[in-house]
Amino acid sequence: MITSRIVGTGSYVPEQIVTNDDLAKIVETNDEWIRTRTGIRQRRIATSEGTSDLAAKAAERAIEQAGIKPEEIDLIILATSSQDYCFPSGACEVQGRVGAVNAVCYDLSAACTGFVFALNTAQAFIQSGVYRTALVVGSEVLSKLIDWKDRSTCVLFGDGAGAVVVRADETGILGFQMHSDGTKGNVLTCGARSNGNFLMNQKPELSYMTMDGQEVFKFAVKRVPEVISQLLEKTGTPIEEIRYFVLHQANYRIIESVAKRLKVGMEKFPANMEYYGNTSGASIPLLLDEMNRAGKLNPGDKIILSGFGGGLTWGATLIQW
Ligand code: ACO
Repeated sequence: MITSRIVGTGSYVPEQIVTNDDLAKIVETNDEWIRTRTGIRQRRIATSEGTSDLAAKAAERAIEQAGIKPEEIDLIILATSSQDYCFPSGACEVQGRVGAVNAVCYDLSAACTGFVFALNTAQAFIQSGVYRTALVVGSEVLSKLIDWKDRSTCVLFGDGAGAVVVRADETGILGFQMHSDGTKGNVLTCGARSNGNFLMNQKPELSYMTMDGQEVFKFAVKRVPEVISQLLEKTGTPIEEIRYFVLHQANYRIIESVAKRLKVGMEKFPANMEYYGNTSGASIPLLLDEMNRAGKLNPGDKIILSGFGGGLTWGATLIQW
């Protein structure tokens, strides 16, 4: 059976570090509150780079590790909710930057689930024989969508990018599962450019991100164990066979709750939100790249990726490394 295998990973984060103490100078908050509720100590913030800049740098590293020529890439999907322009897409910008002249390119919008949906989309194309090689990137500069006066959201997020190159192979992605619930969109929104300006003689409004934190928490701790269990059942995989559960890095307490519900030890749930905050669509490939470069992933290891976020959207992918 033809499937797609990850043959290269890469990531990139902007240089500027913003600690919890730095944020306490802007809004009424403190390191202890942020750390105990989220597990976040610091985040990276882009001061001169855009979403496509971060994406292109992560992509270059993934391509280099894969040892392929950019011309071999058939498809580029960029998962992002913080694109630099409405158009052109960030994926087209990445194509131009990395020289993937033969690729078809587009962005995918599924908030923090974006990377998982994008990887699964690439898998569907590769499995069906349409394409052989894809570059899947998650990149976010959420700092431009955040109200830096709103302490309930601004402490949570950070900027960054991660990328993978996937190729047709005999082993790799073993299955995936995806869901959406459009009736709960109001739980997590960002209405940038939401008001039309036809004959109104005024600029479209830009609005910031809003979130009902407790609803997001309840959604995540219910849906993530559920989608992982569905995927394990669908693929006939005993949960004991999973080496790592690489979850979207929103919040350490969400990960602890998911681990508890699945009755799996926390040693199988790697985390790095301590250093980067919640980087939305970038968090999973950023963590995966760190693990890969640290030599934590061995051939044959079974890994589950799971994302959840605005839409609402949630999904999971089972990979044999
Ligand atoms: N610093 C200090 N105090 C704060 C802060 C802050 N940054 N933010 C809120 N507070 C205060 C509130 O005003 C409130 O005060 P009050 O009791 O006087 O009214 C108090 O802390 C408790 O506020 P809650 O919103 O009830 O705090 P909660 O314990 O629910 O924690 C949190 C908030 C961390 C956001 C939690 O709801 C959560 O983890 N939600 C999950 C959401 C998430 O991770 N979203 C990430 C983005 S979405 C995604 O990636 C899928």
